[in-house]
Amino acid sequence: MTDSGNLSLDQKNIDTILVLDFGSQYTQLIARRVRDFNVYSVILPWDVSLEKIKILNPKGVILSGGPESVTKSNTPRIPEIIFELNIPILGICYGMQTLAEQFGGQVSSSTIKEFGHAQITLEQTSQLFDGFGSGTLIDVWMSHGDHVSTLPDEFNLIASTSSAPVAAMEHIEKPIYALQFHPEVTHTDQGKAILENFVFKICESTPQWRMEDLIEHRIQEIKDKVGDQRVLLGLSGGVDSSVTAILLDKAIGKNLICVFVDNGLLRKNEAKDVESLFKEKMNLNLVVVDAKKIFYRHLKGITEPEQKRKVIGRTFIDIFDNEAAKFKDEIKYLAQGTIYPDVIESSDSESKEARVIKSHHNVGGLPEDMKMELIEPLRDLFKDEVRKMGAKLGLPSEMLNRHPFPGPGLGVRILGEICKDKVTTLQNADAIFIEELIKANLYDQVSQAFCAYLPIKSVGVVGDERRYADVIAIRAVETVDFMTADWAKLPHDFLADVSNRIVNELENISRVVYDISSKPPATIEWE
Ligand code: XMP
Repeated sequence: MTDSGNLSLDQKNIDTILVLDFGSQYTQLIARRVRDFNVYSVILPWDVSLEKIKILNPKGVILSGGPESVTKSNTPRIPEIIFELNIPILGICYGMQTLAEQFGGQVSSSTIKEFGHAQITLEQTSQLFDGFGSGTLIDVWMSHGDHVSTLPDEFNLIASTSSAPVAAMEHIEKPIYALQFHPEVTHTDQGKAILENFVFKICESTPQWRMEDLIEHRIQEIKDKVGDQRVLLGLSGGVDSSVTAILLDKAIGKNLICVFVDNGLLRKNEAKDVESLFKEKMNLNLVVVDAKKIFYRHLKGITEPEQKRKVIGRTFIDIFDNEAAKFKDEIKYLAQGTIYPDVIESSDSESKEARVIKSHHNVGGLPEDMKMELIEPLRDLFKDEVRKMGAKLGLPSEMLNRHPFPGPGLGVRILGEICKDKVTTLQNADAIFIEELIKANLYDQVSQAFCAYLPIKSVGVVGDERRYADVIAIRAVETVDFMTADWAKLPHDFLADVSNRIVNELENISRVVYDISSKPPATIEWE
């Protein structure tokens, strides 16, 4: 469904840097860094069609790193069109190796992968290193198995290290540059300056990607497209759908109908908070559907995690469709808070799979006879850009900087069968944990924190009484991408306070445990 929505901004009018993706874990980071300079940047897979590149009309191209080896056959190569465009090129890691190979240089595989800090020496001046003198040492981040062992004829060496003799190279005539290290990661000391040199001094881009202009532009676009038609939006209370709602509200006011489904698996007071923020404070046209009982009824007797997710997803779609059907003849558009990482095209099978998984969390299909056109005004924005936009549109920072919350909500945090009482207990335990984290200034230091409900009876003593009751697990993780995560080393005294409060304040809990599993092998959620 998300893939059918078109990019809403007329990007042809602004300077754009193309990031050609060879499958690196850092590809999105490259595009984000460029956008931090207020220059628009788009990611496309290395095997993208010629047409798409032409339409984009980029000012420059950055070739990402990637997991493959150019020493093997049938590995990705830079398409000829990139060279025919005659625009500046910057290859990073795999991007450098394939550049070297395609220009007749040699790439060798090392038995030992170089991963981590290294120091490069600048061998000669280059526009890429403008502002640094020759001989300067820079701390950089390496992550490679292969290296360029023989420079291609038309290239000069511009930086080296002891382990990767060719750490950076530049074409003798054309604006083609390459780096063995990763300037996009913060561990590379001068990474920002190097990318800035490429984007501004070499590509001569003008910074035209500004949040203020973008908001204005998007509002106008929505107005032009929608006119006086009505738009339906499934509001979850999360950052993406909330920012979408406010943007649409600014454009079309009461012609936006937001539907918020209370599935009974939300955080404590969440439904009330959403209603008070959007309906009372922001004056949006909001329909709150209290579907708690329906969800609990459908979940009765279900214990298997995937089965729970399916039931929650299906029930949500049924209820949302039911609401939508009430406006069947009046509404032409359906808005969604789809963001850029949900739709980035990739030639890498793993990311394709990730996209399929993600799409399952979004609103599914509407009934056959409801033909609505999609509006996705955040479709080309990264999460941090969505947060910036939300802040400019007046959304409170506590809601914009909230930890992620899964679509199936507490349904994946209650092991075994779900019932109202367990939900209430978990909501209370979770509220205590989060409240204490905020009080101790620890909330923003962890990426995600929550409680899980373990229906395992254990013995405790509270006062003079023996208590035989269930267990609450607390979980806090630190992560950048949620693909891997480390358990947070929260202070013991803090954990003791949280544990005391939970056992003292919640009668049906006898014990609190702290989850010290990292991902992998564990997942962040318990189910
Ligand atoms: P896991 O548990 O897979 O979680 O390590 C990674 C991130 O994804 C979130 N998550 C979900 N989000 N629907 C969602 O919308 C789901 O079914 C789901 N399962 C996990 C999780 O909260 C974490 O941020």
